[in-house]
Amino acid sequence: MMPDYSSLLLSPREIDDKVAALAEQISRDYKDRDLVLIGVLKGAFIFLADLSRKLTIPATIDFVWCSSYGGGDTSTENVLRISGIRTDISGKDVLIVEDILDTGITIRDLLAYLWSFRPSSIGVCVFIDKHERRRTDVTADYAGHFVEKGFLVGYGLDYAEQYRHLPAVYEMARS
Ligand code: IMP
Ligand code: MG
Repeated sequence: MMPDYSSLLLSPREIDDKVAALAEQISRDYKDRDLVLIGVLKGAFIFLADLSRKLTIPATIDFVWCSSYGGGDTSTENVLRISGIRTDISGKDVLIVEDILDTGITIRDLLAYLWSFRPSSIGVCVFIDKHERRRTDVTADYAGHFVEKGFLVGYGLDYAEQYRHLPAVYEMARS
């Protein structure tokens, strides 16, 4: 089931600990605020499900579709297609929930889109913060795990739509 030539980066147990730590911090920071979690499909679906269930504060949930990657593992480097949100976020405290921050283009464009609805704040929560290819000034307010480089799969992250369902995170070997 796991990808060939891959190595384990985070076990389910390690993932759970990291998500619990993020949820605790977010629950503290957003206490008495009007929190709307906005998950970025498809990659964030597992992370958002786990994170939201560990929060100890009220939150509403919505999703946006956005993708910067085509079939494989190279960025299209183009402005994304972003689908419409269905929640009224005006005056609310939005927290973007994303699987991985890489170049930052996805979140940069998503921030511009979401600000147009006049929320009172927007935070960024990513499960993985990957540094090597950053091409924007986007930073994560919350990050579960930092890596310098590498192509990761599992826990929502895909390679050509495969491996999203794996309960652990693996680094794929590059040829
Ligand atoms: P960015 O726009 O370059 O920051 O890329 C963010 C998106 O690229 C993520 O939502 C992922 O879909 C994809 N991505 C970036 N790095 C990886 C990776 O290592 N594995 C799987 N998907 C990745
Ligand atoms: Mg994605």
